[in-house]
Amino acid sequence: GLKIVTIGGGSSYTPELIEGLIKYNNELPVRELWLVDIEEGKEKLEIVGNLAKRMVKKAGVPIKICLTLDRKEALKSADFVTTQFRVGLLEARMKDESIPLKHGVLGQETNGPGGLFKALRTIPVILDICSEMEEVCPNAWLINFTNPAGMVTEAILRYSNIDKVVGLCNVPIGMEMGVAKLLEVEPHRVRIDFAGLNHMVYGLNVFVDGVSVKNQVMSLINDPEKSITMQNIHAMGWEPEFLKALDVFPCPYHNYYYKSGDMLEKELKNYKEGGTRAEVVKKLEEELFDLYSDPHLASKPPQLEKRGGAYYSDAAVRLIHSMYTDKCDIQAVNTINKGAISSLPFDSAVELSCIITKDGPKPIAVGDLPIQVRGLVQQVKSFERVAIEAAMNGDYATALLAMTINPFVPSDRVAKVILDEMLEAHKEYLPQF
Ligand code: NAD
Ligand code: G6P
Ligand code: MN
Ligand code: MN
Repeated sequence: GLKIVTIGGGSSYTPELIEGLIKYNNELPVRELWLVDIEEGKEKLEIVGNLAKRMVKKAGVPIKICLTLDRKEALKSADFVTTQFRVGLLEARMKDESIPLKHGVLGQETNGPGGLFKALRTIPVILDICSEMEEVCPNAWLINFTNPAGMVTEAILRYSNIDKVVGLCNVPIGMEMGVAKLLEVEPHRVRIDFAGLNHMVYGLNVFVDGVSVKNQVMSLINDPEKSITMQNIHAMGWEPEFLKALDVFPCPYHNYYYKSGDMLEKELKNYKEGGTRAEVVKKLEEELFDLYSDPHLASKPPQLEKRGGAYYSDAAVRLIHSMYTDKCDIQAVNTINKGAISSLPFDSAVELSCIITKDGPKPIAVGDLPIQVRGLVQQVKSFERVAIEAAMNGDYATALLAMTINPFVPSDRVAKVILDEMLEAHKEYLPQF
């Protein structure tokens, strides 16, 4: 049987994962699931771990659930390691989202200054995990869900000895599910050809039963009521002529890039009324953990759907299943480019449709990105590379460079103000600075 280790096991998303493992248990014989957390997450780990135990018992599947704070012990002989941790907890996310806003810049957990600081905090931790894996489970696959998933995956690829890593996000599967809903067809009939970066991915084409429906989808999603988005993003619809000319299907995060002013206005309004998304999530989480604590609950409560990570379990378990069975189906993941997108560096992480095999994802070659999106994607990749460099060397000027070249940030001066405030606010989680 297989041993899976989940780091950040106290996450409210864990019941999603359990649900997926239960559903696939006939074909994916997971026998041990180790949930790992840290001292601060002990209570959450207990609550969610006990729910996980009730879920597998009720389903009658032979998965042993083990809870621990000893990461290295847990990692021993793992077959798959999944990561879903948040360095600095929601407190840090609050700062990532609110400090930029105070200076008139979008505050977002994975993009802009917030994404930069989440990368600076997370990369040292993930590289520690990789060193431990090298020692105690060198053959395991690492499925990284921890944000910013693209930058974290690239840091692993370039700065660790772990090559067996796949970065995973629920945006691609969410877009496919969104199209299925919009066109009222079953999800398995929908396929999107994805290419780009994490949270900067485009659908180059959209198919139902192999026939392109891209133009139809693109004319429907102009209507804000029909926009395809995630729970954490207030999408506003598109100017029809813009979208037609763009000619590729944008992801929900493109709202922040093509509607920056409008999104900032909306964010500021929300912030004044009730705080950032972190505050909303804090309340949702309290509600969820209250439910999880009920000893009679033995399934995933529907309230979890209010979180942005919908379909996470489907995406994660589907990926592990295809790797384990060498299924060779197509899924969009973050992996090393190796020329698949010729407009981007060879050794960078990119998010694109891949054939999923036992030896990992094999990217489907794209060639150049269309000219109208190429520049933005390259700009964001430059930002990501400089951000990773700053995470590695802890150099102030490198961090300032990353902050300044990010498309959300209007000047080097504003970048410096935000950088200084954020370095101070997060210093306890930035050992490299
Ligand atoms: P969370 O705040 O609930 O954190 C999850 C757990 O991580 C907590 O129990 C916490 O105690 C633990 N943790 C913190 N630091 C740790 C460390 N150093 N080692 C081990 N565990 C640690 O967060 P969440 O909302 O469940 O999200 C978890 C992560 O998944 C975040 O990074 C988030 O951005 C990411 N996420 C990714 C996607 C995606 O599309 N890839 C979607 C949703 C969430
Ligand atoms: C989206 C993204 C994640 C993001 C999350 C936020 O789906 O793909 O990468 O972090 O949802 O959700 P939350 O509920 O935490 O705001
Ligand atoms: Mn390597
Ligand atoms: Mn994501």
